[in-house]
Amino acid sequence: MSRNADLIARSLASVWHPCTQMQHHESAPPVPIVRGKGVWLEDAEGRRLIDGVSSWWVNLFGHGNPEIAEAIADQARRLEHVMLAGFTHQPVVALSERLSALAPGKLGHAFYASDGASATEIALKMAFHYFANRGQRAKRRFAYLQGGYHGETVGSLAVTDVAIFRDVYAPLLTQHQSLPFPAREQQAHALAALESLLESRGHEIAALVIEPLVQGASGMRMYDPGYLRRARALCDQHEVLLIADEIMTGFGRTGTFFACEQAGIAPDFLCLSKGITGGFLPLSCVLTSDGVYDAFYDERTVRGFLHSHSYTGNPIACRAACAVLDIFARDHVIEANREKAARFDAIAAPLAGHAHVRNARRLGMIWAFDIAGTPPDFARAATALALEHGALLRPIGSTVYFMPPYVINDEEFGGLVKAGLAIAGRLGGTP
Ligand SMILES: Cc1ncc(COP(=O)(O)O)c(C=O)c1O
Repeated sequence: MSRNADLIARSLASVWHPCTQMQHHESAPPVPIVRGKGVWLEDAEGRRLIDGVSSWWVNLFGHGNPEIAEAIADQARRLEHVMLAGFTHQPVVALSERLSALAPGKLGHAFYASDGASATEIALKMAFHYFANRGQRAKRRFAYLQGGYHGETVGSLAVTDVAIFRDVYAPLLTQHQSLPFPAREQQAHALAALESLLESRGHEIAALVIEPLVQGASGMRMYDPGYLRRARALCDQHEVLLIADEIMTGFGRTGTFFACEQAGIAPDFLCLSKGITGGFLPLSCVLTSDGVYDAFYDERTVRGFLHSHSYTGNPIACRAACAVLDIFARDHVIEANREKAARFDAIAAPLAGHAHVRNARRLGMIWAFDIAGTPPDFARAATALALEHGALLRPIGSTVYFMPPYVINDEEFGGLVKAGLAIAGRLGGTP
């Protein structure tokens, strides 16, 4: 048995893989990866793949990045973990100060968890509790956009609108209020719906939760910053808090450090995860304002935010995040990505112009294309075809996207485009 086959068999016997119908692995087994370097992942037999989706949108500066790896190793030798209730440490303080300095507005209080969904949960609970502490107990509902994705725990799923993840659990979910997505021609309608909701039911709504500028999991659906500006103003007018879920968009993915910057707005809660550690360790964070923080600051314990996770503020993860911020500052990553993205647009031009491609779009370091005339099960077939072409791609519906680590070079990006062309050519155009 080859080393790959052995690991696959043991994985299928012992591991329940995420977001997967396990039976599908009978025809498309999981790909065993033994090492990663830069944008490349390598299996036990030396076959290499370009990571075109940054391993679920987390990797920024390459697999095995030596600087981040060294920071982690150094921190592991000094202090691997200490509970954050009643204790503190240098990496969590440094990271909190640095994130706050980078965030739009004045978001000076950082609360930590380990994954994106937990960050959403924290922001939802804090928003509700904020109003409860102020005696506004009717404010217990949330508004979210159609097509929004904020994670898959029961609370965050209740403000997520992606049918395949949500529908089966619908009986478990609290009903909140969905709002139209501001697609280009729909923006005025979407804003009118938000305004009307806040006018009629603003007294029941604690917060609007939103992915700024692009909805990732529902197919890289991009929208205009003008919507965010107006939404911010409407929230202020109706005393509704704004939760910006920058779990995917943060850390330069949309071309600015945070997507909110492009709208010139500051949210009340900024949820971060994914790229925060450059894809090395699970870490998430919710940054919030003095106004929110002050509503919890009291002699009475129950008015505090009594939420915790065992690994909250883990020192090794925080050190990894500080190393990521060092790289951003030293290498002027945001500016460098702008130049890179412009070059990549030219490389992607044959794909954008392909007869089976519609709605080619880009925001920052995200390229997306809809394929016309796709067969049923397109996404799985396209993933398999991409693997044959040496690329890790995971289309969503009929949308193919590239969200590579920022260290990708022209030739490697060309490899993704070739895989995209194979997908468009072989799997698109079904009448
Ligand atoms: C915008 C957004 N919010 C929340 C999440 C959930 O993050 P996690 O998968 O770490 O729970 C994701 C994950 O894709 C996301 O894209």
